[in-house]
Amino acid sequence: MDKQFERTLITTALPYANGPVHIGHLAGVYIPADIYARYLRLKGENVLLIGGSDEHGVPITLRAKKEGVTPQDIVDRYHTIIKKSFTDFGVSFDIYSRTTSETHRQVASDFFRKLYDNGEFIERTNEQYYDEEAKQFLADRYITGTCPHCGNPNAYGDQCESCGTSLSPNDLKDPKSAISGSVPVLRETKHWYLPLDKWEPFLRQWILEEHKEWKPNVYGQCKSWLDMGLQPRAVSRDLDWGIPVPVDGAEGKVLYVWFDAPIGYISNTKELLPETWETWWKDPSTRLLHFIGKDNIVFHCIVFPTMLKAEGTFNLPENVPANEFLNLEGDKISTSRNWAVWLHEYLEELPGKQDVLRYVLTANAPETKDNDFTWKDFQARNNNELVAILGNFVNRAFVLTSKYFDNKVPELGELTEYDKQTLNDFVNVKADVERLLDTFHFRDAQKEAMNLARIGNKYLADTEPWKLAKTDMNRVGTILNIALQITANLAIAFEPFLPFSMEKLNEMLNVKPLGWNRLGETNLLPAGHQLGKAELLFEKIDDAVIEAQIQKLLDTKKENEAANYKANPIKETIEYGDFEKLDIRVGTVIECIKVPKADKLLQLRIDDGLEKRIIVSGIAQHYKPEELIGKQVCFIANLAPRKLKGIVSEGMILSAENNDGSLKVIMPEQAVKPGSEVK
Ligand code: MF3
Ligand code: ZN
Repeated sequence: MDKQFERTLITTALPYANGPVHIGHLAGVYIPADIYARYLRLKGENVLLIGGSDEHGVPITLRAKKEGVTPQDIVDRYHTIIKKSFTDFGVSFDIYSRTTSETHRQVASDFFRKLYDNGEFIERTNEQYYDEEAKQFLADRYITGTCPHCGNPNAYGDQCESCGTSLSPNDLKDPKSAISGSVPVLRETKHWYLPLDKWEPFLRQWILEEHKEWKPNVYGQCKSWLDMGLQPRAVSRDLDWGIPVPVDGAEGKVLYVWFDAPIGYISNTKELLPETWETWWKDPSTRLLHFIGKDNIVFHCIVFPTMLKAEGTFNLPENVPANEFLNLEGDKISTSRNWAVWLHEYLEELPGKQDVLRYVLTANAPETKDNDFTWKDFQARNNNELVAILGNFVNRAFVLTSKYFDNKVPELGELTEYDKQTLNDFVNVKADVERLLDTFHFRDAQKEAMNLARIGNKYLADTEPWKLAKTDMNRVGTILNIALQITANLAIAFEPFLPFSMEKLNEMLNVKPLGWNRLGETNLLPAGHQLGKAELLFEKIDDAVIEAQIQKLLDTKKENEAANYKANPIKETIEYGDFEKLDIRVGTVIECIKVPKADKLLQLRIDDGLEKRIIVSGIAQHYKPEELIGKQVCFIANLAPRKLKGIVSEGMILSAENNDGSLKVIMPEQAVKPGSEVK
């Protein structure tokens, strides 16, 4: 950090207000941002933590339609739930507002208008499908029709799920609106585009040359976007939910949700500080940081900075510490499949255990790669770390002080070598934790804090003051003084991570929060200082509690399977003769390559025992070509040949679709002769 900043503005991705928030949100964005904000505040720095709900966009309108309510009803409902969850988990926002606020409408409109007036947009007119019944233009995936390649009658405007081909809506035969079912018509529509390509040289210099210190996952994603070449991006949509495009002749058009949402960071700052918000956004002595998940990288590293740069008066982010994803018990977290631990439910079922979840999510934070949350790990970290190390140490220090010294900090007597060494050990903790927090290594920083508790635990176990009480009270006093100084240090070191428990610990110590800068001091509590009442900081979590949570997830799995079954019921009964018409065989894959310009298709050459046939299969997103070479697959051998992306495919590879949508190719359990029949 060569540059000196006077204040830090921390933004957190605005979650969509079309569902509650879950552990993935907390682990990826809000806990790290909160730890960082608390840390800076404890150091006495000037900091703002900005949040809010993202309340525009198509999914919210569809959800409203489905429920027969207005989009405003939907966002009102979820904004309230989300905001409460963040408060409950101690995310210390200076403001948590929303993109349907009047301030935001004003700020976002003005922002668009300024770029428009400065000629920063290009205008383009395209033909797009329009639903005359629903009176709206249709996004690609809200158009269905017949696939021109395989004849699947339920293909989407962006792809056919049956043969895997990428489509554009104009390719579909007999297009239908997924919203009203009516036949859409093509209509011309005008939109405004931000010419990212024009800013490419600037972005390359700013990111690739001047921000090599960004996390490798962030830097790498930016580099690959820049290397692919940037295209102009539409910043408006034909929709009746959002912020109206503030220019003449733009009736029925709104700002694209990804244009208005990041401006929400600015609006929310302005709502909080109507007089001084500009210092936080425009003064070069302010450091801007965006905390986000990996799916938001391109918007925060490329699109939003381009908007800010084009506007001309704003700072650009200094860093964008994006995280990867958190999985749950081995599967991707999914709102639609209800595969999540919802924050509001967690607190109902495990009341008062906010810090336990904060601790576990930080210990397992997906900082450099996707990570897995499991209930067993949750239990182990609670029982073996929070209870057995931190809680146990603090409790012993308090119980012994109350027993032998009337709950007052005893005098420090003569020090042994071991005492000196222990005191020395925790002097370094400050520098270590700071170095890690300053570089956004939150898991390791928390680990360092826990090491301090480990030092304390070991110190008490080695010195065994309870055995000395009869013979040498001076010695007992010295040991407990040291143990209490360690405890006071823990109250500082853990405050950014476990704010609820540390508030309690400060009460037990009968001190006001000591402030980060005193971390590492060995005389935080003067001899004679009266301690408060001791309480347990953490409690063991029983197997039954964990099993109930696991059972709940198993039930969800069952429900999903039942729903899947309902959505994919067994087809009409056929006669044996119908089955016999199918000629299914085993073949060996001898070549496999990607089909150019089709991101879903692989072209395989199969040894079918007689000849080498070509089969094109929609599995490119599930297998790398080299993974299949040499493998045996099952295929339909007598399917009439058909053309896919100009290649004649002679058959179809059989694969099973897993509940997460992934495809697994069916393979014989042991090698057989190519051409063997499957019956
Ligand atoms: N709502 C988006 C998401 O959940 C994040 C928006 S971040 C902001 O992926 F920049 F738009 F604020
Ligand atoms: Zn198709």
